[in-house]
Amino acid sequence: MTAKELIDIYISFFEKRGHKRIANSPLVPENDPTTLFTSSGMQPLIQYLLGETHPAGNRLVDVQNSFRAQDIDEVGDNRHTTFFRMLGNWSLGDYFKTEEIPWLFEFLTKEFGLPKEKLFITVFAGNGGVERDNEAFEIWKKIVPEDKIFFAGVDKNWWSRSGVPDNMPIGEPGGPDSEVYFKFDDIEHNKDCKDNPVDCECGKFLEIANAVFMQYIKTNKGFENLPKQNVDFGGGLERLLAAVEEKSDVFATSLFTPIIKTIEKETGKQYRENAKEMQIISDHFAAGVFIISAGVLPANKERGYILRRLIRRAFDNFYRLKGKNIEPVLEKIVEQYSQTDEVLQEKYEEIKLTILEEEAKYKSVRKTAVDFIVKKYPSAGSGQVGDDSAKPVREISADDAFLLYTTHGLSPTQIRSLGYAFNEQDFAKKMEEHQKLSRTASSGMFKGGLADHSELTIMGHTATHLLHQALRDVFGSGLHQTGSNITTERVRFDFNLDRNLTAEELKKVEDIVNQKIEENLPVRFEIMPVQKAKDLGAVGLFDEKYAKDVKVYFIGNYSREFCGGPHVDFTGVLKRFKILKQENIGYGQRRIYAVVNK
Ligand code: ALA
Repeated sequence: MTAKELIDIYISFFEKRGHKRIANSPLVPENDPTTLFTSSGMQPLIQYLLGETHPAGNRLVDVQNSFRAQDIDEVGDNRHTTFFRMLGNWSLGDYFKTEEIPWLFEFLTKEFGLPKEKLFITVFAGNGGVERDNEAFEIWKKIVPEDKIFFAGVDKNWWSRSGVPDNMPIGEPGGPDSEVYFKFDDIEHNKDCKDNPVDCECGKFLEIANAVFMQYIKTNKGFENLPKQNVDFGGGLERLLAAVEEKSDVFATSLFTPIIKTIEKETGKQYRENAKEMQIISDHFAAGVFIISAGVLPANKERGYILRRLIRRAFDNFYRLKGKNIEPVLEKIVEQYSQTDEVLQEKYEEIKLTILEEEAKYKSVRKTAVDFIVKKYPSAGSGQVGDDSAKPVREISADDAFLLYTTHGLSPTQIRSLGYAFNEQDFAKKMEEHQKLSRTASSGMFKGGLADHSELTIMGHTATHLLHQALRDVFGSGLHQTGSNITTERVRFDFNLDRNLTAEELKKVEDIVNQKIEENLPVRFEIMPVQKAKDLGAVGLFDEKYAKDVKVYFIGNYSREFCGGPHVDFTGVLKRFKILKQENIGYGQRRIYAVVNK
């Protein structure tokens, strides 16, 4: 069974049970300032889990491309990847545990053909203020023998975007989950492992499915019930494929094998002896390919920095295996993944050039770093960049190593790979100070945003719709939104305009928005067919790949936008709208900062 076949079987299983397929959301979230990348299927659906109406209904199914930067250092074993595709099904206040659990077991065993005896279940043991999930336990007991069901606490069987209950901010939804593990016969337990899915860390038990019963919201008073009880199911496609093909290593499945074989060919080395390096090379370049295709370029901060780190770490490993030409590897990755993501073929040239350019920059950075050290420590010697494994280790000061880190962006591992040793403890101390400083500088950067759904951010959200329309009134309908970021402190709105607004234009836009606030217009939404929304002149971004019906927000008769919500009920509550400043953000785009209710 190929990855594509697994997807088709899964989607049709849920379509037959009344689910509507929704499109994969962009890997770079459009209007969510709380995160750099989409890292699970539920993230783009957060407002619907909080109670907004979804245009496609209450039963949804999809496959979502996901990237988890926090797992970058875990890659290099049989099961971790930073990029993966998540099969998802949702109940938005429709069915709950009684339906989800048996369906989950049915598609794993009947549709994917997984042997029952190899499946193990975990259920929430309770704590963090929420009781043990006896309901899920009772349902599972009817399906599998009781001795295959295990209980685990908040660390393992609780799901929210921010992890365990204590880490969740007020307003964040979450809930207990139930997970399915596949047990592989050909892996020996580590000495500390016990033979069950909760106490095993060696990979003998692979988590392949996670049904989250998303029913709580964190409040000042602890957990309260959400308006609706939701199901958020996620299953990693790469891991499901490993279970279906009974490969205890995801990199040995039919998805990765052709990529690994290409790496073997280009390096002249065997996977068996160099698994870790080859796993890193395949995963990081695959993630890089998808991130570039989402429009990100390597850079020194935020998304671009993560991309740069992935590419450079992948090259470190490729060079370590004496690889020279990465092109055939990239070509194979694109070939494998374009069976499900055709767009990669179209963008192949762009992707390849971006990676090759980054390789050239990386080589030059390494060369500059070596030149700097050689000048300062004449006896340190220089190695051949890109082929560093045989160089002698020379001692440099932690200060200089740290300089290489801050000015050339070389990580400690990369500095070591150039053949230089330094006092690791002193380096770690400097790093800690540095991180403290950058945390202070960036605190607030991802705070708030629409995701917090506080009164002020909801007001800010409605203000962006008014601002969008007011700008179109002044500059014509060729103007459109290119981004937004809303916190409790201010609204930020980006749009296409290739010059600054004059003072009069700024005032005019501000006046229009205030006029609409004064008119106290009602805000409401309607779910309607795509064509009708277009005929009505609704503006904004939406993905119409699978969408039949869309949600459109109306502000009086003034503005119509494709939008998931939420919004205020009447514009009057915004009180006053004030533009603080404008900025040129490049690529023919301007940015306006504004406040409401001040
Ligand atoms: N949201 C759940 C997860 O990512 C399904 O595991």
